[in-house]
Amino acid sequence: MSPSRAAVVSIVLVALAAPMVGAQQANDPAGDPERGKIVFRTVGGCANCHGWAADGKTGVALHSPAGPSLRETKLNKEALAETIRCGRPGTQMPYHDRAAYRDDRCYGLVMSDFTPGDAPPRGKTFGEKDVANIVAYLQTRVIGLGKPTYDECADFFDNPAAKACIILK
Ligand code: HEC
Repeated sequence: MSPSRAAVVSIVLVALAAPMVGAQQANDPAGDPERGKIVFRTVGGCANCHGWAADGKTGVALHSPAGPSLRETKLNKEALAETIRCGRPGTQMPYHDRAAYRDDRCYGLVMSDFTPGDAPPRGKTFGEKDVANIVAYLQTRVIGLGKPTYDECADFFDNPAAKACIILK
């Protein structure tokens, strides 16, 4: 391919790709559930307390503080995002917004409002995009589901042979 033809081809590709990216973002302001799943499973550490199935029991180690079933939560999108950003002071649910309780963005509270030893626990912090990604994951692939299934488990771990899934087979 001549250099000028290569340049034309790459300009056409860029022109094609740009509107596609824009459209995807416009259709999906709520975040990417697949990415949300990964954050839930890995850096978020959510499965430690809520379980891989987010039902508050499946796969939760006995020494972990169990979180409630997110499959049965009544929270809407905003409340889910706020709970993830700000945690729940007075419980083990950690906050994940780096600036939470530094300013009053969370429930109007700052660290000095808490007695020492009673400060809200801090989880791994991540940005607004990943909060939206987790919310999208919970809303499309967790909330309202019944008993965890093998297929769901294999998908969660991206591994059909995952140890946690074998008992569900
Ligand atoms: C150390 C344990 C722990 C970890 C880690 C944890 N949670 Fe929680 N979570 C809890 C507990 C305990 C509650 C219940 C708080 C309460 O009593 O209000 C809770 C509550 C929640 C709620 C509110 C449910 C409702 O219906 O009120 C959501 C949503 C939630 N967690 C999502 C997450 C996500 C997403 C992550 C990971 C980013 C996560 N949690 C990490 C323990 C944990």
